[in-house]
Amino acid sequence: MKPMELTKEEQQMLNGEAGYAARKSMEILTALGEIYGADRLIKVGSVQVAGVSYHNLGDAGLEFLNELARDGKVRVLTTLNPAGMDLENWRNLGISEDFAAKQNLVIDAFRRMGILVSCTCTPYLIGNLPRYGEHVAWSESSAVTFANSVIGAKTNKEGGPSALAAAFIGKTPRYGLHLDENRVPNIHVQVNAVLTKLSDWGALGFSIGKKAENKIPYITGIKEAELDELKSFCASVVTYGAQPLFYMRDITPGAENHQPPIDSVTVEDRDIKDAYDSINDQVTDIELVCVGCPHCSIKEISQIAELLEGKHVSENTEFWVATSRVAKQIADKRGYTEIIEHAGGKFACDTCMAVAPLKGRFKSLATTSAKGCFYSRQNKMLTKMGSLQECIDAAVTGKWS
Ligand code: F3S
Repeated sequence: MKPMELTKEEQQMLNGEAGYAARKSMEILTALGEIYGADRLIKVGSVQVAGVSYHNLGDAGLEFLNELARDGKVRVLTTLNPAGMDLENWRNLGISEDFAAKQNLVIDAFRRMGILVSCTCTPYLIGNLPRYGEHVAWSESSAVTFANSVIGAKTNKEGGPSALAAAFIGKTPRYGLHLDENRVPNIHVQVNAVLTKLSDWGALGFSIGKKAENKIPYITGIKEAELDELKSFCASVVTYGAQPLFYMRDITPGAENHQPPIDSVTVEDRDIKDAYDSINDQVTDIELVCVGCPHCSIKEISQIAELLEGKHVSENTEFWVATSRVAKQIADKRGYTEIIEHAGGKFACDTCMAVAPLKGRFKSLATTSAKGCFYSRQNKMLTKMGSLQECIDAAVTGKWS
């Protein structure tokens, strides 16, 4: 392992001359750089930090954050991934007082570091929007995939500590997807399947993720894609596959600079059906319906309001809309919140079905998201994935039909 070349300022930070958090951060970044063969650190335009839920951090994680918060201040725009609860209406979601107290300590530590307490996996929808080609250090896998592929920014999939270290130094080691030679697609995926609803994009991500294995897909055959469809695809393809980067010809930037790789696979209608068969369990009674994985855009919230207006959520079911607080504030002004809450739906701002402490609370879940199903199964729930209409129907009837 060859040590990275450090500037005078970086060396001083590593020596502890700029305080504890800077030294700790430099130790993390230099260790990573050496393991992955980086030659130096490069500046990043922004950071997105995962590992925010107390459910995942525990007391050891909280202690680590408090240590860093003693003298650590971020140097670049830094936003947070979802926390374990809605920071304002946690009682409404059935979160315990004890959990809320711990989660608030975690948030307080991040706030003292100068981090924007945004708590969303769609930072690009709330103002943390890199430009094409910009180096960033993000950690939430769906957001990393969106940044690399849909925006054309450059980031590795950071862990929580390495993202925080990048935020304190404003830099990250130059390796992996920061290097153009590692961003070349190496499997051609021809999509012949017809996609008709949002959840089909999750199924497509499942299929491509499995078929591409560890390779970077160059996808052809898709004529058009909306932002919400791409964000759903990003979440799924990296959950069921390995690479947080793909190219989609005529849709995502940079695809025009590459030719379809020789190695190739196709995705047919039967592959989409197989994906649904793998993701869906045998279950009829639905205890939780949660949409917003990744977090709902304002457009998705408007669609939910339209479908739910004049109906009422079943007394046997909870219906959650997971989104950013910023999107919720727009929903408040547009009247969508009133419609959804009047129908018995609940907003789950700042959090999501994967990082909230839901294990043991619900036995079954319906959602539009393939990634949501993956993590909910880890929480021991039986899962159903379908269209927004099917999810609303499940919320209203308490049944998946
Ligand atoms: Fe976001 Fe949670 Fe899904 S972090 S991508 S809503 S699992």
